[in-house]
Amino acid sequence: MSERTLVLVKPDGVQRGLAGEVIGRLERRGLQLVGLKLMRMDEALAARHYAEHVEKSFYPGLRDFMTSGPLVAAVFEGENAVRAVRQSMGATNPLDSPPGTIRGDLALDLGRNVVHGSDSAESGEREVALFFRPEELVGWTSDMAGWVRE
Ligand code: RTP
Ligand code: MG
Repeated sequence: MSERTLVLVKPDGVQRGLAGEVIGRLERRGLQLVGLKLMRMDEALAARHYAEHVEKSFYPGLRDFMTSGPLVAAVFEGENAVRAVRQSMGATNPLDSPPGTIRGDLALDLGRNVVHGSDSAESGEREVALFFRPEELVGWTSDMAGWVRE
């Protein structure tokens, strides 16, 4: 089943000049890009995006970090897109992420882990709707599709 996942290059990733690297790794894996923009997250969007974490002790620090500078928001679409992105990102704590993953190669700290990816197809739908208007998403057929999936 085709699904959509929201990817954020977090403010640390943008500040470090890693936006292209992160998006590029997911593109090169064969995932199809259907939405992309540079934007800032405000406090209201942070609270909605991280609704499951709002009451947690680490939330104020997470909110301040996520609203501290621009981020790159992207939507990838395809079969198992959520699982593929989570696998390519690595574990939440970069020190638990093996080399070869985005966090394992590019990050060291739980609070500066460069990238977000939706954790389920349901979260993907919810998060995509928070960050993109329907007309900002582009439906297209990739001419590479038959070389990426059987
Ligand atoms: P994300 O939502 O950013 O893709 O990361 P995730 O699913 O791997 O991790 P999640 O549990 O959703 O946590 C969201 C972000 O909050 C920060 N965090 N800090 N100090 C802490 O205990 C703590 N726990 C989580 C991380 O930056 C994590 O990516
Ligand atoms: Mg999460």
